[in-house]
Amino acid sequence: MCGIVGYIGERKAYPILIEGLRRLEYRGYDSAGVALLSEKSLEIYKEVGKVADLEAIVPDKEHFQTLGVAHTRWATHGEPTQENAHPHSSVSQDIVVVHNGIIENFMLLKRRLLDDGYSFRSETDTEVIVNLIESECKKGKVGLETAVNKALQQLHGAYALAVLSKSQPNKLIVARKGSPLAIGLGKNNAEFFVASDAIPMVEYTQDLIYLNDNEVAVLERGKKVEVKDIHGKSKNYKVKHIELDRNMVTKGEYEYFMLKEIFEQPETLANTIFSHLSEKEDTIYFEGLEKLKKQLSEARRIVIVACGTSWHSGLIGEYLIEELARVPVEVEYASEFRYRNPIIRKGDIVLAISQSGETADTLAALRYSQKQGATTFAICNVYGSSMAREADFVAYTYAGVEIGVASTKAFTAQVAVLSLLAVAMGLENKVLEKKRAKELMKELRVIPELVQKTLQQDFDIENVAKDFLDTTSFLYLGRGVNFPVALEGALKLKEVSYIHAEGYPAAEMKHGPIAMIDENLPTLIVGTNEAYYEKIVSNAQEVKARKGTIVAVVNENDKELSAIADYVMKVPEVDDFLQPIIASIPLHLFSYHVAVMKGCNVDQPRNLAKSVTVE
Ligand code: AGP
Repeated sequence: MCGIVGYIGERKAYPILIEGLRRLEYRGYDSAGVALLSEKSLEIYKEVGKVADLEAIVPDKEHFQTLGVAHTRWATHGEPTQENAHPHSSVSQDIVVVHNGIIENFMLLKRRLLDDGYSFRSETDTEVIVNLIESECKKGKVGLETAVNKALQQLHGAYALAVLSKSQPNKLIVARKGSPLAIGLGKNNAEFFVASDAIPMVEYTQDLIYLNDNEVAVLERGKKVEVKDIHGKSKNYKVKHIELDRNMVTKGEYEYFMLKEIFEQPETLANTIFSHLSEKEDTIYFEGLEKLKKQLSEARRIVIVACGTSWHSGLIGEYLIEELARVPVEVEYASEFRYRNPIIRKGDIVLAISQSGETADTLAALRYSQKQGATTFAICNVYGSSMAREADFVAYTYAGVEIGVASTKAFTAQVAVLSLLAVAMGLENKVLEKKRAKELMKELRVIPELVQKTLQQDFDIENVAKDFLDTTSFLYLGRGVNFPVALEGALKLKEVSYIHAEGYPAAEMKHGPIAMIDENLPTLIVGTNEAYYEKIVSNAQEVKARKGTIVAVVNENDKELSAIADYVMKVPEVDDFLQPIIASIPLHLFSYHVAVMKGCNVDQPRNLAKSVTVE
C-alpha cells in the first residue's frame, strides 16, 4: 500500500527513483511523484495516474541531483489528485516527506497547526506530518533529526517515512512504525537506497537493514548508518544479505506478471516443496520444527489468522490439519479477530499466513496472540518481512517475488506448505499412518510436474473464457477441501475482471443461491474430489435443471460430470487432499483470460494494492 523509494549517494538519483517506482507500482498506482534535492535546488514533480504519467510530465533535463525521494500512491486521505500526490512539502517548502501508512490523529494535529498559522494544499495526513516537523524545527530551534523525532512522538497510526530538507541537503532521514521500510547499503557507505521492499534495490545492493517499528535512521554520504529510537537512543541493527533473482522482477516474455507468475508455478512449487521435503527420504523439514514439534503435538488448537487469498489457503489448511493431524483448527479473518477480543491462551498455536508478511490486520492479530501467550508461527513469502521477523517460528513459501496484485503462485505455495505441515503434524501426533504419509509425500513430489501438465491447457481455457466476457455474475461451487478453492477462484475473477463472483459450498446452494440460477448465471463447479463426487454430480444436475450453464473442473478421466457440464477443464488426478493446488491452476488461467480479453489491467486491478499495510 503506497511505495516509497529514496536515494542518497554519488549517482544521479532520478533514474534510480523512477525505476524503483516502476518496480513498486504494484503497491499503489493512482498517482506518483518525485522530489530531487541538491545544494542549489529542490524540484518536485507529481502526477495523477501511473509512473509513466509522472515520467511524461518531468521535463527532459539533466537531473543531476544525487539525493531524492519518490512515491507511488494508493489513496487513503483524499482522492487521487495532483495536490494529494506525494511528495508533500512544508509551508516554507523547506522540508519534503513521502509517507506510507495512515496517521489516525491527523485531524487533531492539523487543527493545532492551522491555529499556529499553517495552511494546507492537500487533504492528506502526510501534509500534516511534514508541517509538524517544520513546526518542531521552528518552535524548538532544533535540527531536522530532533524535529523528526519530536513529530514522530506525536503521531498515532502507521508510517514509513522518508524526509529531506533543503537546509540539510546531505541527509536523508527515514523512519518506520507499522509500515515496512528497508535501507540498502552501498559500498563503503558512499550511497544508500531506501524502499518499501527489497525489489527496487536488487540491482544495486543485496545488503539490507530492515527497520523495526519506532526506529529512525539518518543516512549521510560517507557515514555509517545510525539507527535510533524516536527518543534519540541508539539501537543495534543487523545487516541482512538477501539474494533476489533479477528475472523475478521483470515480465520477461510475458505480457503480464500475472501470467508469468501462473506459469512459474511448477518451479515455485518445486522450490517450496523441496525446501521442506527431502527429495529422496521421507523427512519433512521446517526451521525450528524440532522445538515446535512438542508444542504442535501438545497444541489444544490451532488458530489461523489471515486475509483475502491467504485466508482461503488457511481454510484449506483447516481441512488438511484436522483430517491428517487431528488437531482442532479455527480460521479467522485477521481483521475481525484483532478487534473482537478473541480467547487466546498459552498452549494455542496461532498460525499467521501472509504472502507479504506485512498485512496490517494479520500482523496485529499475530502481535495480539503473542501478548496472550500463544506460540506464533508465520507462513510468509517475503523474506525479512515483519511477520517473518516477529513470529516465534516461520516457514517460508519460496514462491519468489510476486508482483501481480492478484495472488497466484504465492497461494499454491502456501497450500503446499500447509499440506507438508499437516503431514508432519500427523506423523508427530501419531495419528497419520506412516504408509499414508509416505503416499502423500510421494504425490507432493510430483505436484510440480502435474501443475506443468495442467498449464498445457492454457489454450483450451482461453477458449472457454471467450464465452464469458459479457457475463455479469458467476457462482463458484466446491465441496470439502475444494470449497475454499471455489472461494479463491471467485475472488480471483472478481479482482481482475470486475465480474461479480460468489464462492459457495456446493451443498449450501440449495439454501439460497439456487434462487439466482437461470440461463444468465453460469456456475463453475470444482468437481475433482473423489470423496464427494456423487454429491457434486447431483449439485450439477440441480444447476442444469434450472437452465444454468456449467463450467466444470474435473479429473482427466472424468465421465459423469463432464457429460452434464457445458464446458470442461481437465486436471490430472491426485490424492483428494492435494487437489487444491492442481484445481486452482485452471481457475487462475480462466480469470486471467476473461480479464485480459475484457481489456483489464490484471497486474494492477482498480482500487487494489498488493500489500495492505493499512487497516
Ligand atoms: C490476493 O489476490 C489479494 N490481492 C489479497 O486478497 C491478499 O491475499 C490479501 O490482501 C492478503 O495479503 P497477504 O497474503 O500479503 O497478507
